[in-house]
Amino acid sequence: MALHFSVYYHSPANGDLLRQVIDSSGAGLLAEVNDLAQLPVTGGNGTDVFLLEYQEDNPQLDQWIETTATNPQNPAIFLVFPEISTSQLLKALHLGVKECFAFPVGPEEFKEAVNRLLVRTALKAPPGGPTKIISFLGCKGGVGASFLIANLGYLLSREQQGQVLLVDLDLQYGQLVYFFDIKTRHSLSDIIAHLEEMDHAYLQNLVYPYNKFLSLLPGPTNLEEAEAITPEQVGKILSYLKNMQAYRWILVDAGHRMEEITLKALELADNLVLVTVPSVPALANTRKWLDLLHLLDLEVPLEIWLNAWDQNSTLTLSEVSDYLGTEVHGTLPVDVDAVNRSINDGRPLTETEPRHPLCQALQTRADKLAGKEILDEAMASGWGWLKRLTGKV
Ligand SMILES: Nc1ncnc2c1ncn2[C@@H]1O[C@H](COP(=O)(O)OP(=O)(O)O)[C@@H](O)[C@H]1O
Ligand SMILES: [Mg+2]
Repeated sequence: MALHFSVYYHSPANGDLLRQVIDSSGAGLLAEVNDLAQLPVTGGNGTDVFLLEYQEDNPQLDQWIETTATNPQNPAIFLVFPEISTSQLLKALHLGVKECFAFPVGPEEFKEAVNRLLVRTALKAPPGGPTKIISFLGCKGGVGASFLIANLGYLLSREQQGQVLLVDLDLQYGQLVYFFDIKTRHSLSDIIAHLEEMDHAYLQNLVYPYNKFLSLLPGPTNLEEAEAITPEQVGKILSYLKNMQAYRWILVDAGHRMEEITLKALELADNLVLVTVPSVPALANTRKWLDLLHLLDLEVPLEIWLNAWDQNSTLTLSEVSDYLGTEVHGTLPVDVDAVNRSINDGRPLTETEPRHPLCQALQTRADKLAGKEILDEAMASGWGWLKRLTGKV
């Protein structure tokens, strides 16, 4: 969908710059370019976005912005400042402005803003059910938890049954961004800094949209910021995100450490997924986690996913279950090359190779979480035709 922009400038030279940004970003079509004095009294006549060069000390302009932004039927407003401060940004967002920029506006940042607007428009649609938080735990580092979250997130977004938000709470590492090859300007720490003034519009400016239905809230960019975050703040953010009822799915990367922030992510979850791999250290840690979860008595449904599973391994699935003392709910096949290819490309495997057995196994997990009826997991795993023909697999 191409958005139509009407540009209003204070100086004609800046009007030209804004026209160029729209052209060079390829993110929209230019409807018209006018002087600020010619702002329309009502509506937008086919325009989706008013892109305005902001003029300081012009109360009439402030008034126009507020009135226009109050009516949700009106085009969105993007403001461009000569220089921008946090207080200006907050004021503008509270007036109902959707995006703020400072000159010069880069084509990439402009494109991101347009994506965010498209996501927000989609957010107005009912989310397709109550928000569900699924928290993922790695039984130890490096078992593929973040990879699976990124890929499950993409699968759920492809269903287009509401928005999916990925939240990176593996604070020290904050790796989720790499699975989407995105460079983010904001993170969880920006939300924490403005926790008391948080509202829907402000939050939408801090999450990074990967596509129309999938966004990411990245973890802090450095250790100092990570250490400053408290379990209470994490609890507030997750509760806020859940109560917003704008997302259908919130997938939380809770990392792999037994610490209070991780436990907060588990406490507030509707479902838990504990990711493990078929190795002795990983399975031993999984048992420790199971003991801890038992002690915590969380009453949250738990699934155990066995990642990097090799069907030809000498270890059998029932041996793994016996050792853990509980059922394994899903196995995700090992494929070092395919997984690394997708990670290095910064695109989910479920996007680039949806027919890959790993993606099909993940689709089965997604369907289960989404409550879809699965008559026979073997059918869903792609080998159903063989079972039907031979009566056995
Ligand atoms: N199914 C799989 N098959 C092969 N390698 C995998 C698989 N899943 C993950 N990996 C490997 O595990 C590494 C760690 O993955 P990551 O998601 O960062 O782990 P975690 O978040 O648990 O620390 C990845 O770089 C990838 O090479
Ligand atoms: Mg990780």
